[in-house]
Amino acid sequence: MDRLLPRPRVAERAPGVFELTPGSAVSGPAALVDAVRLSLAVLDLRPADAAAADAFAAVRVTEDAALGPEAYEIEIAAEAVRIVAGDRAGAFYAGQTLRQLLPAEAYRATAVPGTTWTMPCGRIADAPALSWRGAHLDVARNFLPKREVLRMIDLLALHKLNRLHLHLVDDQGWRVESRAYPLLHEVGSHRDQTTTSYYREEPTFDGVPHGGYYTLADLAEISAYAAARAVTVVPEIDVPGHASAILAAYPRFGARPEERYRVLDRWGISPAILSPLPATVDFLTAVFDEVIGALGAVPYFHIGGDECVLDDWAASAEISAYQSELGLAAPADLHAWFLRRLADVLAARGCRAVVWDEAFVSGMLRQDTVVMPWRGPDVGRRAAAAGHEVVATPVFPLYFDYAEAASPEEPLAIGETITLADVAAFTPVPAEWSGAERDRVIGMQFQLWSERIPDGRTLDYRAWPRGCAAAEIAWTGTPAADCFTRRLDAHLVRMDAFGVEYRPPAGPRPWQRGGTGWRRHRPGVIDVHEVMRRLYDLTQSADSTRPSM
Ligand code: ACM
Repeated sequence: MDRLLPRPRVAERAPGVFELTPGSAVSGPAALVDAVRLSLAVLDLRPADAAAADAFAAVRVTEDAALGPEAYEIEIAAEAVRIVAGDRAGAFYAGQTLRQLLPAEAYRATAVPGTTWTMPCGRIADAPALSWRGAHLDVARNFLPKREVLRMIDLLALHKLNRLHLHLVDDQGWRVESRAYPLLHEVGSHRDQTTTSYYREEPTFDGVPHGGYYTLADLAEISAYAAARAVTVVPEIDVPGHASAILAAYPRFGARPEERYRVLDRWGISPAILSPLPATVDFLTAVFDEVIGALGAVPYFHIGGDECVLDDWAASAEISAYQSELGLAAPADLHAWFLRRLADVLAARGCRAVVWDEAFVSGMLRQDTVVMPWRGPDVGRRAAAAGHEVVATPVFPLYFDYAEAASPEEPLAIGETITLADVAAFTPVPAEWSGAERDRVIGMQFQLWSERIPDGRTLDYRAWPRGCAAAEIAWTGTPAADCFTRRLDAHLVRMDAFGVEYRPPAGPRPWQRGGTGWRRHRPGVIDVHEVMRRLYDLTQSADSTRPSM
């Protein structure tokens, strides 16, 4: 009971144990039974047939909407487990909690013979503090095959995380099939090589082609797999900047249609930007429709808005004329107007827009647009004060592409240092904000930008156990308690059984180190104070440029 992660609201131990034998029956409403069976798939539990009735089922689940979304209660007695769930997600999370009470073998792919599947008797009453408990995955810079995305969903689910934000396009790649605009995936989804040098160094390259994309059928599969595990996929088509891959395919939608773009093979900010003219809005509408059609239910659709270099808009006579026609004073206003148009398009399709905070700073958002203040709590507070719901996504400490230690032992990272303790100490809802501002913080999310995450093994290393701390905070709404370290020790045994190559809290294993080759990390190359200062300065204006790291 005292080893659960995230920490439940109430967990009381009672004398005795219950043994949940593989193949036991679960009774209750079909949707809830399915949810419990999926959480405990290792035990191959069976739906109790109607004739066998409740009395014979080892696990009995009922619904009580009064508990609220995602909430659940569990009573474990020597003869049976009773679950009351607020909804299907609550039943799924009750199953995940039971899984944690079983031996760590419950995290293996199949029931290992000889395991005794006992759990302590007792009572748990639980509900999340925050409704958006997310992970962001950048599949644009380095593509992650579908199997890694599905595995990530499994890992989110077992941490009671419920949003997977997929960053599907950036300068370095477009990652979705498009039947309306097939050059997007045919041209935009691959590059010839990838840089191996640091910022501000003479560029070097690996000479290895890189690419990949999800078919619309893959997206449908990812969405259904996620939904079954209480995870909502939030697609991101990041516009109007970060546009090199789109423009390599369709230069006519760019601010400089005569330019020949390439899918970028290096990192950092590029000046490539879409045109804000109506043809671009129509193009993006068609693409949004394809993504929405594939994913099915899309309550939230992220449209980016970050790190736009607006010089090409200012230099274009056609775009400037359009800006004047709209009565807008400056390219920054046009940036705001363009994103507002797209949010309206999405609203007509039942999707709420989500943006990075630059789009808020420019000040023309729909009220229902959700803001992700990556540049820190100051801009987050301003967005909340202006009436927007906010998902906390600050670089420090929620950019997990940053190294956990300023050490040459670490593998190559884009920045440093964000430790497990930094994450564990994070306060998602700042005490000094007003009540109304605090109420608008709907959650938090960690970011896995992938410039330095080339594969699934590195993803494991960067995501966990910092993601365990983030999951704890998102669920409880407060920084991790003193007992977190002890509970994490038990949880890492589960992660081992699952096969997660997390970063051990004491430091990397020998084969996880940076070494002397291409994975070498050079601590101190990035001046963290400089990055922080520039992030702060940038929150004062929409006209942002990423700090060079
Ligand atoms: C961001 O890091 N550009 C959202």
